[in-house]
Amino acid sequence: MTEGSEPDHIAIIMDGNGRWARRRFSPRTEGHKAGVRATQAIIEACARRGVTALTLFAFSSENWRRPESEVRILMELFLRTLRDEIGRLHENGIRVRFIGDRAGLGRSLQTEIGRAEEKTAANGNLTVNIAANYGGRQDIAQAARRVAEEVAAGRMRPEEVDARTLGAYVSLSDLPEPDLFIRTGGERRISNYLLWHLAYTELWFTDRLWPDFDSAALEEAIADYQGRQRRFGRTTEQVEHQRHA
Ligand code: FPP
Repeated sequence: MTEGSEPDHIAIIMDGNGRWARRRFSPRTEGHKAGVRATQAIIEACARRGVTALTLFAFSSENWRRPESEVRILMELFLRTLRDEIGRLHENGIRVRFIGDRAGLGRSLQTEIGRAEEKTAANGNLTVNIAANYGGRQDIAQAARRVAEEVAAGRMRPEEVDARTLGAYVSLSDLPEPDLFIRTGGERRISNYLLWHLAYTELWFTDRLWPDFDSAALEEAIADYQGRQRRFGRTTEQVEHQRHA
């Protein structure tokens, strides 16, 4: 809750694969492949550290605007990574879930996602949520639509709709909200990521490109997080009194 505590849930925007490749005069694909390797290392580091949940932004609702060839390569990479890695993730007790509009993804990727979720559903070491075809506004909109359906069906009264009831329909509602948000690649924005969930999350930005983000960089982000005081709207005095009580 306050200074020194471990983050339970870490959310990451993995940015900078393309620039990493360009600096090496390599095709962008090489950057994405290096990004996959960085992702594997960070998943392992989070599992070792006892983090409860890690949520990774793999593909946003807006990423379809990229050149068709890059979108295709990314989708193939997701599919191949999922097929190659799911066994090892499962052996390590890691649960894998996806958030976002999966109906918009290719048929074989949807099948593999379903398999991965089913296979790892009972694992309790670390939950890795992969946001694919995900948008924060779309997430809130789908929650509002489902609440509206409940109201229209007479199962909920309009005056019962508040932040708590709506929040139950937003994705990841069964997990603690992210404690720490990390964005690599130098941009300082949220880019329609977990808009609902990040209300009280500590934000950490780095210029480091995603393929260069390693466990030491993760430690740096966590150490910075641990030096902060989270007040959730209360005063410093209240927080300190609570801590010493
Ligand atoms: C940002 O680089 C990254 C993405 C568009 C997402 C793809 C992420 C990976 C391939 C990492 C692995 C993920 C999983 C779930 C296995 P960018 O292309 O936006 O970089 P740029 O801003 O330098 O062009």
